[in-house]
Amino acid sequence: MEITIATLEDVTGIAKVHVETWQKYYRGQVPDFYLDSLSVEKRVHKLEEMLASGESETISLVAKENGRVIGFCDVGPSRDKDATAKTGELYAIYVLPGEMGRGVGSQLMKRVLNILMDRGFTEATLWVFKSNGKTRRFYKQRGWSEDGATKITPKDGFSYDEVRYNIRLGFPPISSAIWMRQECVRNLC
Ligand SMILES: CC(C)(COP(=O)(O)OP(=O)(O)OC[C@H]1O[C@@H](n2cnc3c(N)ncnc32)[C@H](O)[C@@H]1OP(=O)(O)O)[C@@H](O)C(=O)NCCC(=O)NCCS
Repeated sequence: MEITIATLEDVTGIAKVHVETWQKYYRGQVPDFYLDSLSVEKRVHKLEEMLASGESETISLVAKENGRVIGFCDVGPSRDKDATAKTGELYAIYVLPGEMGRGVGSQLMKRVLNILMDRGFTEATLWVFKSNGKTRRFYKQRGWSEDGATKITPKDGFSYDEVRYNIRLGFPPISSAIWMRQECVRNLC
């Protein structure tokens, strides 16, 4: 598997991961009518528009195997009103359902947090569905903690109920340091 900065060539692969993960993983957490309305074509169009505007400060990484995108993540400056200029945000992290649980998400996360740190961000936040227990555990095991902020975002006849997590960059808490050491042993670095 290789992890690289995403380019225009990866847009369709990213859109496929996004739509497949939403439709399979979020079934039961998000209404069916919304999941069934998602399409790769619409997502590609949206991503291409965003890239063409040249205004996006988002950095996207893709994880690829044999040229196929199996996961991606997006980061950039925090969009929250209470954030400082040094607060980054993990906007999205997704791995294809058939590839989950084999370390792809962990490697994407490690790489993207290093990129934020290199760009001078000292902390990062993310929003996750309150109902998304598995992913919330994934974040907690990797050094993120709930910071108490919550939000409910209305969306086409339903709403997203989310909680915010925060991590300091450059000063891993003990649980995260242990995880990084385990990763190091696994990768023989
Ligand atoms: C969260 C996610 C990015 C993690 O990526 P991943 O490649 O599955 O994770 P890894 O293999 O690196 O790490 C596995 C760990 O994550 C946990 N995990 C979380 N969600 C998991 C899932 N759906 N399947 C398998 N493991 C999952 C496992 O418990 C495992 O813990 P362990 O290290 O103690 O064994 C990925 O599972 C995913 O795309 N989930 C659905 C979408 C989502 O919730 N995205 C975040 C939106 S805020």
